[in-house]
Amino acid sequence: MGKIIAIASQKGGVGKTTTCLNLAVSLAGLGKNILLVDCDPQGALAAASNLKRITDTGLVQLLKGELEEGDIVVPAGWRSLALVGCGVQETDDVFFLERETANGNLGKAIRALSVGYDYILLDTQAGLSRGLFQLFSDVDSVLLPCTCKATTVKTLPLFLKFIQQARQSKNLTLQLEGVVITLYNEFDPCAVEVSETIQEAFPQEIFFRTFIPLLLSFEQASMRAIPVALLKRDTFAVLAYDRLAFELTERQKRGEVSGE
Ligand SMILES: Nc1ncnc2c1ncn2[C@@H]1O[C@H](COP(=O)(O)OP(=O)(O)O)[C@@H](O)[C@H]1O
Ligand SMILES: [Mg+2]
Repeated sequence: MGKIIAIASQKGGVGKTTTCLNLAVSLAGLGKNILLVDCDPQGALAAASNLKRITDTGLVQLLKGELEEGDIVVPAGWRSLALVGCGVQETDDVFFLERETANGNLGKAIRALSVGYDYILLDTQAGLSRGLFQLFSDVDSVLLPCTCKATTVKTLPLFLKFIQQARQSKNLTLQLEGVVITLYNEFDPCAVEVSETIQEAFPQEIFFRTFIPLLLSFEQASMRAIPVALLKRDTFAVLAYDRLAFELTERQKRGEVSGE
């Protein structure tokens, strides 16, 4: 069974969906078998990866018993990568998926789907919700994308505490895969200051050494609903997620992923 990693943050717009998709592509480039699961009822991952054009079905239909696992897993068409959409078609589906997340059925269904993959990356909705807390029962680790804004200094501790409480009450083996700094502009003095402040405030090992730079290519790839690797223009952008993927696998080999 593969490692299930939830890409999560209480904040929107921090690069969760972008990280999920591009990290998956880079991990697949390292020869890993990857399943991407869109747990966000807004279907951001499905939209970002062109999945909506291929299928509108996914987790909702699986959880309703209308479709089987094999019906909802869609090969991405590049590398050893497959995707599962959220399957939200109607407003009621949003509430249904939220209920199924909060009562634990979604987590169990994802565990069942994870067989045969090296990594299962979950794109999640922003927020400190009961559903996310419950979902942490069935994941192995949490990867937290984090932008360097003034509010980050306040919000990061709260989210780390949220993970810690989920570990204590739901899943004693839950790990913090790491915090990755995203949309980073090294020429913005405020971003540099926030980055230094948070790195001083927490143990160094919780941070990935790789920073994901703020680059127009990510926005362009997102507008075309493709991973940045398929833009074939900005090797700098592609390399950022390749580095993150390499670092993630190396950290796992060295057992550096934090449990405390
Ligand atoms: N490194 C980056 N550089 C520039 N734009 C980015 C970067 N990462 C993400 N974006 C853009 O920022 C917006 C929010 O990213 P997204 O991944 O959707 O965040 P979230 O899933 O946390 O809400 C999107 O328009 C995306 O294209
Ligand atoms: Mg998103």
